[in-house]
Amino acid sequence: MYRVDLRSDTVTKPSEAMRRAMAAAEVGDDWFGDDPTVNRLQERAAEVTGKEAALYVPTGTMANQICLSMHLRGVGHFVAATPGAHVASTEVMSSAALSGISFRTADPGPSGWMTADLARRLLADDDPYEVEVVDLLCVENTVGHAGGTVMPLEELRAIRRVADAAGAPVHLDGARIFNAAVAAGVEVADYAREVDTLMFCVSKGLGAPIGSIVCGSREQIREARRRRILFGGAWRQAGILAAAGLIALEEGPKRLHEDHARAGRLAAGVAEILPGSIDPGSVETNIVYVDTEAVGRSPLEVLRRLADLGVGATYVEGKVRMLTHVDVDDEGLDLALSALRSLVAGATDEG
Ligand SMILES: Cc1ncc(COP(=O)(O)O)c(C=O)c1O
Repeated sequence: MYRVDLRSDTVTKPSEAMRRAMAAAEVGDDWFGDDPTVNRLQERAAEVTGKEAALYVPTGTMANQICLSMHLRGVGHFVAATPGAHVASTEVMSSAALSGISFRTADPGPSGWMTADLARRLLADDDPYEVEVVDLLCVENTVGHAGGTVMPLEELRAIRRVADAAGAPVHLDGARIFNAAVAAGVEVADYAREVDTLMFCVSKGLGAPIGSIVCGSREQIREARRRRILFGGAWRQAGILAAAGLIALEEGPKRLHEDHARAGRLAAGVAEILPGSIDPGSVETNIVYVDTEAVGRSPLEVLRRLADLGVGATYVEGKVRMLTHVDVDDEGLDLALSALRSLVAGATDEG
């Protein structure tokens, strides 16, 4: 469809090794907990994150929703988050529909990540009428809508102290926590230690075709398992997918620095072709946002021209978004940059 697909890091195709492992996967019925490949993936995820237990689920959205619903103590209670957080802005309000959750939000500005100061404000018990209750603080890392920014570990530690003082648990939407850990030069377990529950996606930068993993205490995962049934996600011979997930979990993190380097090169190239549309210094991981409006070009027009030239990108909040991943090589990057160059040259010729 596209010669290079930069729409998301979810578009990756399973590698040959994954396809072989999937074909040969030992399976069982995961509803009963007897799929050995799923069990191996869950054990490995718990080991890598340093949590007691883990649960393999179909999507990141389901993983977040299971965790949010688990932490909620009453319908109509609040979850504190940033307004751009995936759980608060992108999951089609499934948290309201499924669990009766409202969000209390505060905007951290361009970095996109929750700060200890914001957490203190959001968790403050300052409602004089005593009707507002905040049950959970939800943080995201990397922050997708802010361009894959990385919350420093120190900030999460400070957030943890604030949450502890307020008696609130912390959930981490770590859809891309491996990207964050690689960029920050720390272990995923360092981030995981500071939160009560986390989820991460094997289906994004790690390169598996399907699946996300909820991690927490043994007791939380027992409850998460029950809620996975509630949300329609209790699957059967999921070992076929978990086999690819295992490879993604072992091999994926080793090459994320390449995606980050390519995103940096893409951003630098875009800045040269469309000066003023991006600050290349703001690209910390694998997500590149280009503000084409800022340089007088309609993002939808740019997307159409890119698509015509075989380059996939998406429209997000008025900008053109491009992500690097395992299926984007240097040649693909060159193609994307030359498409942008020809677009600019074409506009000049026409004009
Ligand atoms: C930060 C973040 N959280 C959660 C999700 C949801 O993951 P899924 O698409 O697997 O439901 C996404 C998806 O892109 C995401 O970017």
